[in-house]
Amino acid sequence: MITHEKRAFERDALNMITIQLQPHNPTQAVHTLQAQPGQSLMQAAVDANLPGIQADCGGLLTCATCHVVVHGDWEKQLPPMGSDEDDMLAFTAQARAPSSRLSCQIMLTAELDGLQVTLPASQY
Ligand code: FES
Repeated sequence: MITHEKRAFERDALNMITIQLQPHNPTQAVHTLQAQPGQSLMQAAVDANLPGIQADCGGLLTCATCHVVVHGDWEKQLPPMGSDEDDMLAFTAQARAPSSRLSCQIMLTAELDGLQVTLPASQY
C-alpha cells in the first residue's frame, strides 16, 4: 500500500533539480547537489554538508560567507539582486566578481536545474 507520505515524497523527488558547485581550485572535483526548489542554494548546500559555503548568519544577509560566482549565462536566469545583497558583496573574503551572488539569496526554482557556480577560495 502506498501511503500519502510516500506519494508526496515521490512527487517531490521528481521535482529535484541538480546544481553543480565547482571548487575554486579547478583541479578539484565538482560537487553535484540534488536540491528541492523553494529553498535557497545556501540552505541546500548546508543541508547536504557540502564544503565551501559557511553561511554563518543562516541566511539573514549579514555575513557574506555564502558567496558564490555564477557561471556564464546562468547569471541571466537569476532574479536581480537586491540592494542589501549588493551591499553585502563588499564584505566577501574573496574579491567580488561581476557574477558574484550570495547563495542565501538564490531561491531555487525548476528553471535553475543545471545551475553552475564556483565556490571562492575562502569564505573568511
Ligand atoms: Fe549570511 Fe548569506 S548566509 S549572507
